[in-house]
Amino acid sequence: MKILALKGSPRENSNSTIMLNRFLEGCEKSGGEIKSIKPRDLGIKPCAGCLRCNLIRRCSLRGDDWEQLSKDILDADIIAISSPVYFFNFPSELKGIIDRFRSFIHVRITEDGLIHTPWVAWRKKFVVLLSMGSPDEKEGSGIIDVMRFIVKELGENNELHTFNGTRLAVQGQIEFGPDKLKSLYKKLQIPTELADPDHARNRDLLSHLYSLGTELGAGVK
Ligand SMILES: Cc1cc2nc3c(=O)[nH]c(=O)nc-3n(C[C@H](O)[C@H](O)[C@H](O)COP(=O)(O)O)c2cc1C
Repeated sequence: MKILALKGSPRENSNSTIMLNRFLEGCEKSGGEIKSIKPRDLGIKPCAGCLRCNLIRRCSLRGDDWEQLSKDILDADIIAISSPVYFFNFPSELKGIIDRFRSFIHVRITEDGLIHTPWVAWRKKFVVLLSMGSPDEKEGSGIIDVMRFIVKELGENNELHTFNGTRLAVQGQIEFGPDKLKSLYKKLQIPTELADPDHARNRDLLSHLYSLGTELGAGVK
């Protein structure tokens, strides 16, 4: 399986990247072929809103990294995206890439609404991994809703897997052991009795992502 991994956090040792890396380790174990990209390292112009893609079946913007990235996207069996939640949304570089997905879809306006038809119906698996400061997963629900919509419109046989890491503030936190997490919570004035259950939840999440990686990477699920 070919896996395209988009690492959306600008931080080193970021929590969302750790989640993605764990998933990728599983994919690698199953023989998956991985290409990892940091959106921040690319030059991707923001969508110009020209809507010419509706006529020419590709993005009309030229002179940036979209040509290669769109090939990588089309080539992948699995598209894995990790991201921090920034004001209920993706950070701007990832949002810029998602907007360019418009060029994969024809849109027709009808009396009642919009009909989206992909130029080619995709059959891919999407994995979206979010890290957020809030303990409430709802802070990421706007992103999940958008991804659910896009994934469905690009092909009814596409699949979306989503996971949320919550109450994550500092780099590497998702891998902290119970004592280190307790002392962080003390500093951040978070009730320390939350540290043990949070540690168990983080550990279980990472281990689940590894298993999912082995299954998807092998083309099992
Ligand atoms: C600009 C900015 C906006 C943020 N907005 C939110 C938010 O809306 N909801 C939330 O739960 N956390 C928010 N956070 C916190 C990050 O989502 C959180 O620290 C996350 O775990 C960082 O992920 P990373 O370690 O992968 O970079 C924000 C952080 C920044 C820097």
